[in-house]
Amino acid sequence: MGLQLLGGLTPDEFLAEYWQKKPLLIRQAVTNFPGMVDLAGLSRLAQRDDVESRLIECRNGRWKLEHGPFNKARFNRLPESDWTLLVSNMNHLDPGLDSLLQQFSFLPYTRLDDLMVSWAPPGGSVGPHYDSYDVFLLQVGGQKQWQISSDDAGNFIEDAPIRVLRDFHAEQEWVLEHGDMLYLPPKYAHHGIALTAGMTWSIGFRAPKTQEIAGKFLEFLQDELCLEGMYSDPERRATSEPGRIDDAFVASITEMLKKVQWDDDTVRRFVGRYFSEPKPHVFFTAPARELDFAGFAAHVAQRGVELDSKSQLLFERDFFYLNGEELDVTPECRPLMQELAHRRRLPPATYADSLLELLHEQYLLGYLHPVS
Ligand code: SIN
Ligand code: CO
Repeated sequence: MGLQLLGGLTPDEFLAEYWQKKPLLIRQAVTNFPGMVDLAGLSRLAQRDDVESRLIECRNGRWKLEHGPFNKARFNRLPESDWTLLVSNMNHLDPGLDSLLQQFSFLPYTRLDDLMVSWAPPGGSVGPHYDSYDVFLLQVGGQKQWQISSDDAGNFIEDAPIRVLRDFHAEQEWVLEHGDMLYLPPKYAHHGIALTAGMTWSIGFRAPKTQEIAGKFLEFLQDELCLEGMYSDPERRATSEPGRIDDAFVASITEMLKKVQWDDDTVRRFVGRYFSEPKPHVFFTAPARELDFAGFAAHVAQRGVELDSKSQLLFERDFFYLNGEELDVTPECRPLMQELAHRRRLPPATYADSLLELLHEQYLLGYLHPVS
């Protein structure tokens, strides 16, 4: 069935026609917002050191970038126009925004990244640029003019603190109103300028770079590898050229390196761990007043259980990964753990002790909670 979120297209139609291919403007993609934030709330979050925030200003044609956490006083010194406050990972901070992000779960969690909120008064802009990732730009309150261009060949302005295109030639232009949304594939140049004060909620995706994924895989392999043996040369003869690396030595090292091997299971385990790992600034807090097993079970029976908004639970075949760790899940628990991975919550019910024990352990780490 077609989704309002995708302008009446089904997720499959959207993916076939637009995803990673071409932009799509969707008027009134969202009319029923499950959550809201305002500038006061956003600037409070931007004062926290566990929250990633940025302030971008353009004054007399010069771009200025500041990273949070900000002092409260910083927000009293802002002009009437021409700045943008951006806060990343808002889905970790606000359950309403998290549930909006979940509307995009027709794409897998290995690809879905975060919901970033930007707030701008009139004139606020982060300049013409392109991003390496797919993005849905949802207008929330106010109006923003968006210009886009398929021509991403332009260079970025040198010595600017943010990536701003030197030459940008708009090919299409729209004014987005509250609830309108613009999808852009990777590397599609875009330039948004706030006409009236309002927000852009950016639904962002992750796509690992080959170099990054190879580096992380090699780190993983280093921790996994346990190789026997060491170099030996009982047949060695005396040399008059001690500075030379002889061919036999290189051949022996080559043989040793051939022991570095991996198979499909190694890659599967790496993918499970790496893609469920929390971002660097993410910390989990254990419950302030811990429920013991019986209390936890009673709570779950009444209210159900949900993953913490910062948690990532993934599985492949019979293997489960929660926040970078492999979980030991017995066969009878697997269907419900799969449901928890997909829906991020389980409804109120009396569950088997084996499942509750597993969930209770993760609850004590702050990875999931009984629904409040
Ligand atoms: C904005 O929120 O104004 C910028 C978002 C983007 O261009 O990716
Ligand atoms: Co962008």
